[in-house]
Amino acid sequence: MPVITIASPKGGAGKSTTAVILATELAHAGAQVVLLDCDPNRSISLWASRAPLPPRIAFHADISESEIVRAIKRHDDDGQIVIVDLEGVASRLVSRAISQADLVLTPMRATTLDATIGVRALQLVAEEEEALGRSIRHAVAFTMTRAIKSKQHTAIEASLTEQGVDIIQPPLMERAAFSALFEFGGDLRTIPAQGRMDGAAENAAAFAQQVYMRLTEATQ
Ligand SMILES: Nc1ncnc2c1ncn2[C@@H]1O[C@H](COP(=O)(O)OP(=O)(O)OP(=O)(O)O)[C@@H](O)[C@H]1O
Ligand SMILES: [Mg+2]
Repeated sequence: MPVITIASPKGGAGKSTTAVILATELAHAGAQVVLLDCDPNRSISLWASRAPLPPRIAFHADISESEIVRAIKRHDDDGQIVIVDLEGVASRLVSRAISQADLVLTPMRATTLDATIGVRALQLVAEEEEALGRSIRHAVAFTMTRAIKSKQHTAIEASLTEQGVDIIQPPLMERAAFSALFEFGGDLRTIPAQGRMDGAAENAAAFAQQVYMRLTEATQ
């Protein structure tokens, strides 16, 4: 039961978008995926309500602080990938979801403000590691990245790398197709064309592959 917890205390960092891209790409590649919507704002539920769920994706919503550990463990022995989407806060629910993770992903826009708040997720991971006495694999995923990398992006990336933070390459680019997933539901193959769909699909697949690689390493 590999568990990916998507956590950042920064609102609007791209958590739910990352969750849907990962779920749909991993399912397309043949994995069974369970999406847990733990955000009271219910972004994943909105996505799920727009169109029939793509094959191999299950989804559960309204999971509270008292249910989260049980909800994750319920999918324990069936070889599924569990993806947990959380509210942009630091809370006990977030900490519990981190404690159950094989991989914690922190999506982040490459701006100073977002990075400053986003890296607080690392602190939450460190606290859970201390409490559990085990290490939890963690990676930052830059989101909404423009084709031409800003100086700020390069500087933030360098600073995180210097601190030993794992960064998923490629980042998730800013793409109309990615935001449109919440308008139409489904995946990048079923939504109406938005801009260069092949570029978006290529980016999403390469991103998901890099995440999957870390997940297999973390669960070995
Ligand atoms: N790679 C992307 N390309 C284009 N638009 C994006 C991308 N990632 C996110 N967005 C848009 O940015 C906004 C915030 O993204 P999202 O809802 O995924 O963030 P979040 O971290 O889940 O927010 P919250 O903290 O409110 O749950 C949304 O309007 C989404 O459509
Ligand atoms: Mg969200």
